Amino acid sequence: MKPSTVLILRTRWVSWACVGLLCLTPLAGAAADREKLLNEPGVYGTFATFSLDEEWAKEDQATRIAYLTVLKGVVEQHREKIAIDLYLMRGLSDHADLMFRAHAAELRDTQQFLVDLQTSHFGKHLKTASIMHGLTKKANYVPGFPDQLKADLKVASEPGPKPYAIVVPIRKSADWWGLDQEKRAAMMQEHTEATLSYLKTVKRKLYHSSGLDDLDFITYFETSELEDFHSLILSLEKVKEFQYTRRFGHPTLLGTAKSLDEIIETLAQ
Ligand code: HEM
Repeated sequence: MKPSTVLILRTRWVSWACVGLLCLTPLAGAAADREKLLNEPGVYGTFATFSLDEEWAKEDQATRIAYLTVLKGVVEQHREKIAIDLYLMRGLSDHADLMFRAHAAELRDTQQFLVDLQTSHFGKHLKTASIMHGLTKKANYVPGFPDQLKADLKVASEPGPKPYAIVVPIRKSADWWGLDQEKRAAMMQEHTEATLSYLKTVKRKLYHSSGLDDLDFITYFETSELEDFHSLILSLEKVKEFQYTRRFGHPTLLGTAKSLDEIIETLAQ
């Protein structure tokens, strides 16, 4: 794609989708119901991380802007069906430069997004670092917790930006899955009690991955207080349930939440 061709598109990037060398039909319809996708059970969450190849830095700025315009087109096009969040990992992680978190009612819609991304002109510069999938579900243990604990859990996190995002994949042992529900519930209660003092500064979301990936859970957190997150992990490592963890992280993903335009601005430099 010639930069000049794409620069024309920059003035219309909200309404046109570009994939690779092709600029498709104008974008149709409203964005996906983000609120629903982020809050309801039965939604597929995908965490996809990518590094930019060495050739990226060698491209001149006009070409980089042209390719980033293509990125914008692909993301905007798929926002019709998928809730897409972006994170900058460059500078904080040696794992990847970029992370996409996609929530979709159908995993194949996320697949189509990632295929379009990777086959686009921008995607030619991307190397996949990792892709993980999980499913949101209704709480398994909370309904059986004492009323006071249930009420404590409802404490809203402090308002204001929580710029840091952390993703920790987890796999538990066969012993854990072999325990009866009552024993697991008691340990999850202890897990929950250990976290209460961090509810205000750490927001969390849980995805179930057994059977969809080589994991049992993807845990996702947002915070402005990384020190609190660090202390939270230390508290959880002391509870009995932690002894059933077989994989914690590997990788732990740390990045900052960014808008699409902020990502474009950073990568264009
Ligand atoms: C503010 C901090 C946190 C709170 C309030 C919290 C609370 C909870 C609650 C209530 C559950 C049970 C959900 C259900 O009923 O199904 C749960 C599950 C879980 N939490 Fe946490 N948690 C926090 C932080 C963490 C952290 C830091 C990790 C690990 C990095 C973690 C890993 C998990 C996992 C893997 C499960 C699923 C366990 C299972 O179903 O076997 N949590 N958490």
